[in-house]
Amino acid sequence: MSEDLKRLAAEAALGEVQSGMRLGIGTGSTAEHFVRGLGARVRGGLDVVGVPTSERTAALAREEGIRLETLENCPELDLTVDGADELDARLTLIKGGGGALLREKIVATASTRMVVIADAGKRVSCLGAFALPIEVVPFGLRATRHSIESALAALGYSAVPALRGGTEPFVTDGQHHIFDVELGQIHDPVAVSEALLRIPGVVDHGLFIGIADAAYVAGPDGVDRLTP
Ligand code: A5P
Repeated sequence: MSEDLKRLAAEAALGEVQSGMRLGIGTGSTAEHFVRGLGARVRGGLDVVGVPTSERTAALAREEGIRLETLENCPELDLTVDGADELDARLTLIKGGGGALLREKIVATASTRMVVIADAGKRVSCLGAFALPIEVVPFGLRATRHSIESALAALGYSAVPALRGGTEPFVTDGQHHIFDVELGQIHDPVAVSEALLRIPGVVDHGLFIGIADAAYVAGPDGVDRLTP
């Protein structure tokens, strides 16, 4: 059921893709439906070039015969299509459940438009039930964890950052690690974002604020197109 909804959302976003476009291609199970649909259209003659947001997506896109470029060679994109772990009514997102948040944010920001694809279960009135991923450099992990805790405590959260992977830490495509932080409710995403980005060991976090332009959200009654 959920896979069907993800596929429906991905198919709806494919309607925004036109020949000649430079596309940012997202990561995750919903984005994989988009990549497969895009591959089918490319084999049917659609001419696009894609910049993948992860090595995982790059491998799948290659399998699908989608022409890929690096962001170095193709720094301005027309459209990025990507999934999300949560989205609210303003299309503020939590991303990074799949660990690709940094490249996802760089690619989405390099894009004129970002479109989110999701099943209706991702839609929330207040972000934060999904643990917020925070990407950090490996150097000084304990000090960075302490700084994250203090910064969040100053905002009223008594949250303990959990190192993804535990004793065998998850390593991102950028060779960083991820702390997941249960915040419960994020009433002020901008304040959380600014506090985290002030910490030197933090590379970025999974809050996407003011980046998404539209979202296709698939539920049992069909696909809704949302705008902020
Ligand atoms: C990858 O790092 C994430 O940002 C994904 O886009 C997000 O976790 C959504 O993934 P699913 O489509 O698998 O739920």
